[in-house]
Amino acid sequence: MLIAEGDLPGALSLLEQTLELAPDWPDLLMLLGETQAKLGQRDDAIESFRRYLSVSHDDRHGAILHLALLGAAPIPDEPLAPYIEALFDDFSDRFERSLLQLLDYRGPALIADAIDHETGGLGAVLDLGCGTGLSGEPLRRHCNWLEGVDLSSGMLEKARAKGIYDALHQADIVDFLAKPVRRYDRIVAGDVLNYMGALDSVMSGIAGALKPTGRAVITVEALEAHGGGGCDGMRLLPTLRFAHSAEYVRAAAAAAGLSTAAQRTEALRREAGQPLSCHVFTLLPGAIPAEPNLGPAIDPKARPSA
Ligand SMILES: C[S@@+](CC[C@H](N)C(=O)[O-])C[C@H]1O[C@@H](n2cnc3c(N)ncnc32)[C@H](O)[C@@H]1O
Repeated sequence: MLIAEGDLPGALSLLEQTLELAPDWPDLLMLLGETQAKLGQRDDAIESFRRYLSVSHDDRHGAILHLALLGAAPIPDEPLAPYIEALFDDFSDRFERSLLQLLDYRGPALIADAIDHETGGLGAVLDLGCGTGLSGEPLRRHCNWLEGVDLSSGMLEKARAKGIYDALHQADIVDFLAKPVRRYDRIVAGDVLNYMGALDSVMSGIAGALKPTGRAVITVEALEAHGGGGCDGMRLLPTLRFAHSAEYVRAAAAAAGLSTAAQRTEALRREAGQPLSCHVFTLLPGAIPAEPNLGPAIDPKARPSA
């Protein structure tokens, strides 16, 4: 209550008193670290997050990401599955009302606009990070197979209740793409890749799971809207999500063998009353590497002569 009212010093004092009674209470240590970080008490926050990690079985609160944000740990190579699962399980009951009624979420419309309907149907579609099925809904009547993957059982339950998916899987998208059950005509990823730092694994997975005639439509939060630059084209934000530059996405896609057929920058939704900017990419199998040294090495001598 004190935190919600903005009384951070009052909250800190109460948290410290409580900690004397329950020194190993993970949730308390986490809240203490977050409050210290907000008050600019970096060293104390780092200690609290580390203490939290020493007593928590999994990192359901994303302490590693907080430590990375404070420069006290490297950015994790892989998505933090227990954190994402807990975050969205908790959010699942409020998700659609929040996103649609309060935050003007446009992800599904942006994906539906970018996806190519001209070929007379979408065929088999894979919805990465499908959540409650918002992005899948407008695609359902255009495809003959709709499959969704998500880490959160709470979100998947809502998607299942809609009855629009032919198959749903509880899995990390990179793990799922490493062993796809089929190949897809379309792969979509709406507002999900911003929970990942490096995109090379997911791009390789998408390239491997697409049919040669397929295409993928993805969104990422636009790094350029956060002042651009830094951290090789991607940055961990205070929201604990990641932003990626358009150049980074193009290069990661090209390195995985995907070329950029289209790219737009749009408002994805609102955040703290302001539009949140995203890049919408349409990717096709068959990369033309942006730089000769970004793609897989091609030996010109190995090519058949004309
Ligand atoms: C903001 S929601 C977007 C849901 C949906 N795509 C939409 O447009 O409404 C992000 C979803 O991605 C899922 N997610 C995040 N990272 C994931 C990962 N590495 N593997 C699988 N699902 C993930 C979350 O559980 C959550 O349901």
